[in-house]
Amino acid sequence: MNIADRKTVRTIAIASGKGGVGKTNITANLAIGFSRLDKKVLVFDADLGLSNIDVILNLATRYNIKHLFKGEKKLKDLIIEGPSGIKVLPASSGIQELTELDEFQRLRIIEEFESYDDDVDYLLIDTSSGISTNVAFFCMAAQEIIIVTSAEPTAMTDAYALIKVLFTKYQEKYFKVLVNNVKDEKEATEVYRRLSTAAEKFLSISLDYLGYVPYDALLQRAVRQQKALIEIYPDSEAARSLMKIAEKISSENSNQIKGTLQFFLGGLLKAKC
Ligand SMILES: Nc1ncnc2c1ncn2[C@@H]1O[C@H](COP(=O)(O)OP(=O)(O)O)[C@@H](O)[C@H]1O
Ligand SMILES: [Mg+2]
Repeated sequence: MNIADRKTVRTIAIASGKGGVGKTNITANLAIGFSRLDKKVLVFDADLGLSNIDVILNLATRYNIKHLFKGEKKLKDLIIEGPSGIKVLPASSGIQELTELDEFQRLRIIEEFESYDDDVDYLLIDTSSGISTNVAFFCMAAQEIIIVTSAEPTAMTDAYALIKVLFTKYQEKYFKVLVNNVKDEKEATEVYRRLSTAAEKFLSISLDYLGYVPYDALLQRAVRQQKALIEIYPDSEAARSLMKIAEKISSENSNQIKGTLQFFLGGLLKAKC
């Protein structure tokens, strides 16, 4: 397909610094939320060494990104269908060498995305924990970054540390904050206020508040059932919050939305980590 014919694809990275704060669940449920809003969604499980999305959604994966690096498979062979018609590019479990991609592997991903011409409105990238070069690479490749944090001091410290690295090393200035696993909106806005005060004071950047997802025992039940919360408990508090966030993102007409899938590639090329 001609580059000029490609339509706008929004590429959004979901990152946190700390593990276990809810990135994967938020990514999976936002993906289904967008799909309910008639968007075509591709989820890239970029926690490459640890399989995640496929497990929480109970998807059978035949091939993974390792087959792509070996040249045995193309991107389209790897992509599987998930609930509500979302598409998933799975990671692979237990492959240590994928936790730090080398230049060749990054180029391989770029090449593959270049020739991938399926119809996609949203590309969501679920990143791994930590502040590795992989995380920075995918955050910088995306047009938008959602920083997930909880109210735990360690989650907030790690979220700040990630923002700081992306700003000081890669000059990234735009971050949307999503506060997860809190009691209520008041607690969420307090977490946001503390994080944004630090970012403003020490880095001189202002963070956007995207919204919050409350603690919800039904989310944990959905994880155990290997089903997306939005699918099996659509009326739960957390599902309603996630749907609200999906609606908010899709209604945004931000100037940050620029380019096409090609921009993802451009970003990837720029992200020299
Ligand atoms: N809003 C929430 N309410 C209740 N439990 C949650 C919530 N968000 C996350 N969890 C719990 O945290 C666990 C880790 O979430 P996960 O999405 O795998 O985090 P990450 O991808 O950031 O490592 C989930 O399996 C679930 O038990
Ligand atoms: Mg995860």
